Amino acid sequence: MSAPASHRLAVIAGDGIGPEVVQEALKVLDAVEQVYRPGIVVERLPYGADHYLATGVTLPPDEMRRLGSDVDAILVGALGDPRVPGNEHARDILLGMRFQLDLYVNERPARLFDERLTPLKGKTTRDIDLVVFRENTEGLYVSVGGTFKQGTPDEIAIAEELNTRKGVERIVRHAFEWARANGKTRVTMADKANAIAAHGLWRRVFDAVGREYGDIERDTRYIDAMAMDLVRTPESFQVIVTGNLFGDIISDLASMLVGGLGMAPSANRHPGRVTMFEPVHGSAPPLAGKDVANPMAAILTLSMLLETIGAREAAAAVDGAVRAAVAANVGTPDIGGTHGTRAVGDWIARRVATRE
Ligand code: NAD
Ligand code: IPM
Ligand code: MN
Repeated sequence: MSAPASHRLAVIAGDGIGPEVVQEALKVLDAVEQVYRPGIVVERLPYGADHYLATGVTLPPDEMRRLGSDVDAILVGALGDPRVPGNEHARDILLGMRFQLDLYVNERPARLFDERLTPLKGKTTRDIDLVVFRENTEGLYVSVGGTFKQGTPDEIAIAEELNTRKGVERIVRHAFEWARANGKTRVTMADKANAIAAHGLWRRVFDAVGREYGDIERDTRYIDAMAMDLVRTPESFQVIVTGNLFGDIISDLASMLVGGLGMAPSANRHPGRVTMFEPVHGSAPPLAGKDVANPMAAILTLSMLLETIGAREAAAAVDGAVRAAVAANVGTPDIGGTHGTRAVGDWIARRVATRE
């Protein structure tokens, strides 16, 4: 007899390589269910470019409400399709969930599993183990602004950056709380306060909130210098907290330190509410349908999901199976391997199923 259903998971596989990497994550979830029985019930939702092009619907408002109140977790593959050049479906679905469900924490870990995966000379697995906390509901992503005289030589395009004290404070506090709960000793905040005076808010809030965490060192950088230092001295970073756009950019850079976007998982959180999980990467249209996309980011995202619902042993098993695959050279070409997407998923799922 199977365990009672206790966690409802909505899956939006999406576009491009999204469905391919989600299929492998769900294959690993099947293995997890056989062994650990967390009782996750999967509901697949059709939203994405195909659905939008066929119906004109991105994500119905009722469905957004249901995701906010009736499911425990959401897993997204990727959204983005060359047939939708304005990317409106991805904005409605992906940014829609982040904004409307108020998922203000975008947690993006970058951990080096094997020295072979980093392009940095002489850096070891001990040197690269950090997490980026990206503010996920404000900044330059709020669509405040617009265009004027579009298509004429006098065209004007304005995008305002919105920073609220409440918004900055809650992400900064989350970063310090996470650092304390995970035995970290330093939090680094990145802004551009030397050129953008409004970023003084980030400095003041970081200082005020950080004073409440006397056991944790406060470190501030300008975002440009942080980009350099991530490459020069990645070992100096443990926990990074920053705004929406800087976090977007720096998390792709951080992923490259540990093997690339194919290795980077993420979670969009508002503690106490539904969590939306997704790999950091996008739909990578040139790779779609070729069985070459790296499914490890999606599988590590599944591990974050398992951890979040309290299935700790299963989360560690999935994480360990990905590490073992890397160690055994079972990987896709982006990390120097010769395996296909499905073969990597098969190997990791088998490893989980046999509890090795
Ligand atoms: P991308 O992340 O899709 O791909 C950039 C490059 O990274 C790829 O060409 C490939 O070389 C590599 N890559 C990414 N994921 C990989 C994987 N799993 N395995 C192997 N290599 C991988 O970024 P892009 O090309 O700028 O964007 C493509 C589309 O995806 C756009 O429409 C963009 O808006 C969208 N996008 C969506 C999300 C999301 O849904 N969360 C995130 C980023 C980009
Ligand atoms: C990400 C992506 C998205 C973002 C895009 C697809 C809107 O790049 O999740 O990092 O900019 O947040
Ligand atoms: Mn991005």
